[in-house]
Amino acid sequence: MKSVYIVAIIIALGAAGWFVLSSSGGDDSSSAGEQQASAIIIPELSAMAKKGQIAFKANCAQCHGSDATGTNQGPPLIHDIYNPGHHNDMSFYRAAKMGTRAHHWQYGDMPPQPQVSDEEIGAIIQFIREVQKANGIVYKQHRM
Ligand code: HEC
Repeated sequence: MKSVYIVAIIIALGAAGWFVLSSSGGDDSSSAGEQQASAIIIPELSAMAKKGQIAFKANCAQCHGSDATGTNQGPPLIHDIYNPGHHNDMSFYRAAKMGTRAHHWQYGDMPPQPQVSDEEIGAIIQFIREVQKANGIVYKQHRM
């Protein structure tokens, strides 16, 4: 069990290092243009959120973006719509298990992601919530 954690940490550090290297290269003006909407803060993540970040990149990033800021295939999850009061943790399990119909956006339906375990979804939620919080997205009572 311990060794799994260590491997996860090594992968996370490697990914972080790669990110720093790849994002520091090139001139700032052009990379700022490509990054546009993803100008968000990635906080110091807890161990669980780091595992979630890895699982997110492997299973969700293709549509939701590697920092969960969205792509042309799926919406940003670091968005006020997904604050814990409007989309609670259950909605993440539901989305991963059963997919979801397009209802908030125009990206189409989200297909189910049956390859993702409950444990991974739990870690992914932790990752999303920590990044949301660092960007001022906090619980708001949902009014229907
Ligand atoms: C093939 C693209 C795709 C993948 C892969 C994907 N999603 Fe989505 N997801 C979407 C789209 C598109 C929507 C928006 C649906 C809508 O219009 O509200 C969405 C919506 C969601 C929602 C909101 C659900 C709701 O109740 O409104 C959550 C939560 C979510 N995704 C989490 C995830 C997680 C976690 C993963 C990885 C395990 C993932 N998604 C993988 C495309 C994707």
